[in-house]
Amino acid sequence: MNVPFGDSRREVEEIRPEIEAAIRGVLDSGWFILGENVKRFEEAFAAYCGVDHAVGVGSGTEALHLALVACGVGHGDEVITVPNTAVPTASAISFAGARPVFVDVEPDTLLMNPDLLEQAITPKTKAIVPVHLFGQMADVGRIVEIAHAHGIPVVEDACQAHGAEWHGKRPGQVGDVAAYSFYPSKNLGAYGDGGAVVTNDPELAQRVWLLRNYGQKKRYYHSIVGFNSRLDEVQAAILLTKLSHLDAWNERRRNLARRYLSGLEGAHLSLPVEAPGRKHVFHLFVVRHPDRDALQTHLQDRGVKTLIHYPVPVHLQEAYRFLGYTEGAFPVAEQAAKEILSLPMFPQLRDDEVDYVVEQIRDFTG
Ligand SMILES: Cc1ncc(COP(=O)(O)O)c(C=O)c1O
Repeated sequence: MNVPFGDSRREVEEIRPEIEAAIRGVLDSGWFILGENVKRFEEAFAAYCGVDHAVGVGSGTEALHLALVACGVGHGDEVITVPNTAVPTASAISFAGARPVFVDVEPDTLLMNPDLLEQAITPKTKAIVPVHLFGQMADVGRIVEIAHAHGIPVVEDACQAHGAEWHGKRPGQVGDVAAYSFYPSKNLGAYGDGGAVVTNDPELAQRVWLLRNYGQKKRYYHSIVGFNSRLDEVQAAILLTKLSHLDAWNERRRNLARRYLSGLEGAHLSLPVEAPGRKHVFHLFVVRHPDRDALQTHLQDRGVKTLIHYPVPVHLQEAYRFLGYTEGAFPVAEQAAKEILSLPMFPQLRDDEVDYVVEQIRDFTG
């Protein structure tokens, strides 16, 4: 059997008539940038997130970048995040002109360790960016408590956490602002690039709203220096259609995760944990094994496609060598990078495919 890591074609087949109607609607309107679809999607997505404002932007990287700029982050500042994230978390900090500063993660969840936060804060710290990695929210309550005691805003990286919850709250409800990616493989993905900034703060939302569109409030009248980072009408129409499926698709991911967990119970490898009070939406299903590379090859040889998120922590990437970190700086994240393996996980994955993956893993681990 061949089990893909993901397969967008299966999703398209599930919802093709709705998607074609949505795209046709945009073509018929003759309006492609910042029109009715973006407005309707922003309203619907804000409601889904439980916040007052959502602003559609060009990508998740841009959502983080504009959120940081809107929070006042600029040259010479420091922004704290984690080393085990997608590199764009750090790129966005760099684009804002700031220096990424890392803190290590908790060994079980691999999410920002709030116990290490206080000691990383300096007078230059202008924002803290916890990353809700793999579909599970970091301990955002404690992070916000520490950050706000220092007057520092929290920008949540929710690029992998559409629909995830921390004590019943979603990204953007506890932190000051959250950034989403709609990269196609995300739990809510466009059929191209897209992103959104969500917040309850009307002034912050207004700044992002200006920043994404050349800093103009009225056509050709520019109140601040801005960028071009807009969600387009076609993607907004697709996202609006797909948003109505998100809860069901997240439930399916959780069911698949339960199937993996029960199938792999007692096997000699570490399984993902859902921390108390969190709702994990399993953007990725990540296991750990000390001989990860051999396990990956074993699965590859048996037709199972897996990926590693991520093989090199940001502080050890060539692009970030200038920060001066060396191996050993963040032992938990570094060890995890050597052991983690993401198994196939997407809503259209079949039960028999999960059972096949489980069987092949058990063959390897005993
Ligand atoms: C945690 C995280 N942050 C940021 C990004 C960047 O999002 P995008 O690819 O939409 O720019 C991604 C997605 O790739 C991500 O997974």
